[in-house]
Amino acid sequence: MELSYPRRIDLARVPTPLQYLERASKQWGGGHRLWVKRDDLTGCTLSGNKVRKLEFITAHALDNGYDTLITCGGLQSNHCRATAFAGAQLGLKVHLLLRGDAPEDREGNLLLDHLAGATVSCYPKRQYVAEIDSLFEHWQRHYAGLGRRALAIPTGGSDGIGAWGYIAACEELGADFAANDIRQAHVITASGSGGTQAGLTLGVALHQLPATVWGVNVCDDEAYFIEKITADALDWRERYPGVPEVEVRPRVIDGYVGQGYGIADAGVFRLISELAALEGLVLDPVYTGKAFSGMLAELAAGRFEGCRDIVFVHTGGIFGVFPQRSGFSR
Ligand SMILES: Cc1ncc(COP(=O)(O)O)c(C=O)c1O
Repeated sequence: MELSYPRRIDLARVPTPLQYLERASKQWGGGHRLWVKRDDLTGCTLSGNKVRKLEFITAHALDNGYDTLITCGGLQSNHCRATAFAGAQLGLKVHLLLRGDAPEDREGNLLLDHLAGATVSCYPKRQYVAEIDSLFEHWQRHYAGLGRRALAIPTGGSDGIGAWGYIAACEELGADFAANDIRQAHVITASGSGGTQAGLTLGVALHQLPATVWGVNVCDDEAYFIEKITADALDWRERYPGVPEVEVRPRVIDGYVGQGYGIADAGVFRLISELAALEGLVLDPVYTGKAFSGMLAELAAGRFEGCRDIVFVHTGGIFGVFPQRSGFSR
């Protein structure tokens, strides 16, 4: 399908490798081939899925006269850290609105946010949840008063602009499939704000890949993500009139949130350790560890029966491992 992409800025080290997990396939595959799309290798401080979205979001910012980026997330948000570094690389000011009280010790992503020179404002959870929209407006007004123009980037960079990141990534997946004789696949990602899944779902349809996309939600529930992904796809269509008509049918694997966002159980920590030793691949307890664990459980339950190839999208998150170190010694 003929697609006309908006401008993007080269921030991500792509194409990322598609890696076959030989030992993990033997151990957990039950006859399936397990693959990992290594989007944890899109960069170092700019690693993970967010960089693909930020290539389009930052181009949009520069092309529309913005000199400041405001975005939001948890204290250990990978998206906020990636935005901080993208801004620093492009000479844009970055202001992060974070959910939670500022800890005494800065570590992981939060430490990196500061190193990248971002302005960081922390809000107690309750206030953040109730007031995030007005906080964005407040800070946009504040920067306007200083003669600046601030772009409000939603949680996770998940909107119609960010969706292009994984629409484009599907071109890579198409080449990966061809190179590895993958004729039909299930593609599985962690879903936190839904944008990666929205982009993949659109991309698979637009590029006509022989694949079914699944998101394993790490917060909220299936109904929330179906609505969110549908809304992101609609936003994409409205922002870019003339894009091809495709059917968007989000598929969510619910049931692996555990006790809540950012809280992993002992089984997830065990799986992260096992996979690191087995394949040299490090997942994180907030997103990829839960999603991989959910994928293996569904595999064992037979959800993917009849399809040989399973592709897990490793969306990064390495810096979120360190603040949760105590989980590995439990
Ligand atoms: C490492 C990692 N994986 C997956 C996700 C989920 O991606 P999305 O927010 O696009 O659903 C995020 C962010 O939320 C993330 O930081």
